[in-house]
Amino acid sequence: MLEHLSYAMEIVTKIFSQISALLGIQWAPMDIPMSRRLQTLAAFVWIYLILFGEALSIYLFIQLVYSRFWWMGILYGVWFLNDIEICSRGGRASEWVRNWTWWRYLCDYFPIKLVKTVELDPSKNYMFACFPHGVISLGAFGSFCTNATGFHKLFPGMTCHLITLGGHFLVPFFRDLALALGICSSSEQSLLHLLDNKKYEGNCACMIIGGAAEALDAHPKEYKVILSRRKGFIRVAMKSGAALVPVFSFGETDLFRPPNNPENSLLRRFQEKVRQYTGISPMFPMGRGLFQCSYGVLPMRAPVTTVVGAPMEVKRNLEPTNEEINAVHAEFTERLKTLFETEKVKYLQYHEEAKLVIT
Ligand SMILES: *[C@@H]1O[C@H](CO)[C@@H](O)[C@H](O)[C@H]1NC(C)=O
Ligand SMILES: *[C@@H]1O[C@H](CO)[C@@H](O)[C@H](O)[C@H]1NC(C)=O
Repeated sequence: MLEHLSYAMEIVTKIFSQISALLGIQWAPMDIPMSRRLQTLAAFVWIYLILFGEALSIYLFIQLVYSRFWWMGILYGVWFLNDIEICSRGGRASEWVRNWTWWRYLCDYFPIKLVKTVELDPSKNYMFACFPHGVISLGAFGSFCTNATGFHKLFPGMTCHLITLGGHFLVPFFRDLALALGICSSSEQSLLHLLDNKKYEGNCACMIIGGAAEALDAHPKEYKVILSRRKGFIRVAMKSGAALVPVFSFGETDLFRPPNNPENSLLRRFQEKVRQYTGISPMFPMGRGLFQCSYGVLPMRAPVTTVVGAPMEVKRNLEPTNEEINAVHAEFTERLKTLFETEKVKYLQYHEEAKLVIT
């Protein structure tokens, strides 16, 4: 009996390895320490939360309303409507949520590191202009939505808020997590509130300037960013008088291997159309799986270093003209290029081929 069993096992193992070889699957090593397993788990849960969290939240909310606890759904709904403006009034960050161990394991998975090049004065407000978006901006998430990379240690007395599209704050439950992580809406009203010197000191509004459009250009070792036509953030910085800080996440584009989608390809045209209608880029976050390294949506284990550059002072100007905006924009673009060129040597192994392409 046992003999038959071991024979069967052997055959199964053989078939399994044959199929793996055929499909080109590379299995993750089995003898890995517990901490690495927890890191993988943290990244796994996180990516599913990002991909399906909003749909799941809406589903759960509808289920709640149609359950015998419907009154809880109604109560939540009333509170939600009452609370709808919070995302453009400074949000509701919870230092406890931002300090969760989950984020530490998530950041150690890659690992994500936050680096400063100069000290920032905590009596001023700053607009962090972050590049590149990558597939899902993990560097910006780890650095500015959590305390796992040591934001509070690096910038004592300062607070950071990642900025995202206001639509995410209309999703029940999901919005509460986003708010707890300090995330705020990208409306002009919201930004001017965060950067108001009369209300706050040491506030940083961290914007991912390229947005969803830039995500379509996230391919390993490529750094294509959208900046030439992005001027709204310059205008807001001028209106508020907040200094502009270039922030660059080296390695951000190495985390996934999305399919090739050159301009005018069928895939690219489809993605652009969906983005035009929904504001969200349909992406194919192809990385690895839980137990193998060839297929799946789990990001690759590759280092991401988010470098905070030197602030560029901006003179407060409530009604900037187009020329004034263009001048600040041009100087900022130069500073971003300089940051990329001077820092890439330290954080990219392939720095000789790494080129910043600004469109
Ligand atoms: C955040 O977490 C770290 C490590 O777990 C802990 O040492 C620290 O006290 C926590 N900080 C706060 C404010 O809870
Ligand atoms: C942030 O993390 C550091 C450890 O890196 C901890 O000492 C500190 O208390 C944390 N701050 C907050 C506000 O959680």
